[in-house]
Amino acid sequence: MPIAVVGSNMVDLISYIHRMPGEGETVEAPSFSMGCGGKGANQAVAASRLGAEVVMVSRVGNDVFADTTLKNFEDNGISTTHVLRTDATSGVAPIFVDPDSHNSIIIVKGANAMLSPEDVERAREDIARCDLIVLQLEIPMETVYRAITLGEELGIPVLLNPAPASPELDLARITGVEFLVPNESELELLTGMPVSSLEDIRKATDVLITAGISNVIVTLGARGALWAHAAGEELVAAPEVEALDTTGAGDAFIGCFSNAWVRSGDVLSAVREGAQYAADSVTRPGTQTSYAWAPGRGPA
Ligand code: RIB
Repeated sequence: MPIAVVGSNMVDLISYIHRMPGEGETVEAPSFSMGCGGKGANQAVAASRLGAEVVMVSRVGNDVFADTTLKNFEDNGISTTHVLRTDATSGVAPIFVDPDSHNSIIIVKGANAMLSPEDVERAREDIARCDLIVLQLEIPMETVYRAITLGEELGIPVLLNPAPASPELDLARITGVEFLVPNESELELLTGMPVSSLEDIRKATDVLITAGISNVIVTLGARGALWAHAAGEELVAAPEVEALDTTGAGDAFIGCFSNAWVRSGDVLSAVREGAQYAADSVTRPGTQTSYAWAPGRGPA
């Protein structure tokens, strides 16, 4: 049951800080780590570590970060056939994690900005073998739309994670997706509606369901996730954990959800598994470094 991920990869440069510097100020931070990230790659790696075959469609640059990322895909059992080298810098993400485990992220897309609709087309034969296409917004919007229409042409359900939030995203062009998985701020931008209470969030998901999206799954951080669909809704609580670093928790949820859903077709149990897996990931530092492997699996 393969999963296609058409999306980004980045190298995460993570500083664990006491506080952000003010303008013109230099502050010392206690520690730093570098690891592989990018929303597309994170979701792909989580799904692969849990046992999915992943078809990754992505672009790396022509620098040392590209080698790191390609090796990382291979170590995680992900084929790099459709991960293309590009005459550009690789995507990088300086990340700042504060003492409360909250993160602030800057992304420099680099080669990710050159992943084209034609790249999706070139991977058509392998995408056609997949049971789900997973997308995010760290690649050009036209490439996202092309992957959605390819899913429609091939009869493959599409999961869209509208992250990072983008005012460019055209709701009319994504109503065919099977799963839309925003967090609260992405939901707010997409609908133009407030999301300060669960009641607000429900009203905003209603708008998306009425527009034709089959399933809206809103990730709520430590509160879990709300699954809304035409026949009702389910609020799934996240297990209580001591959070150390929340970076990439949403991607952990999506990678795990995708793997669980293609195996069982059961949305509710896949949301539950995703919430558990994401909660577990925040107890460890880093992005992909915090993602667990399924029992009996490990780096290649
Ligand atoms: O969602 C977390 C990810 O966002 C990080 O890995 C960073 O690379 C950015 O893409």
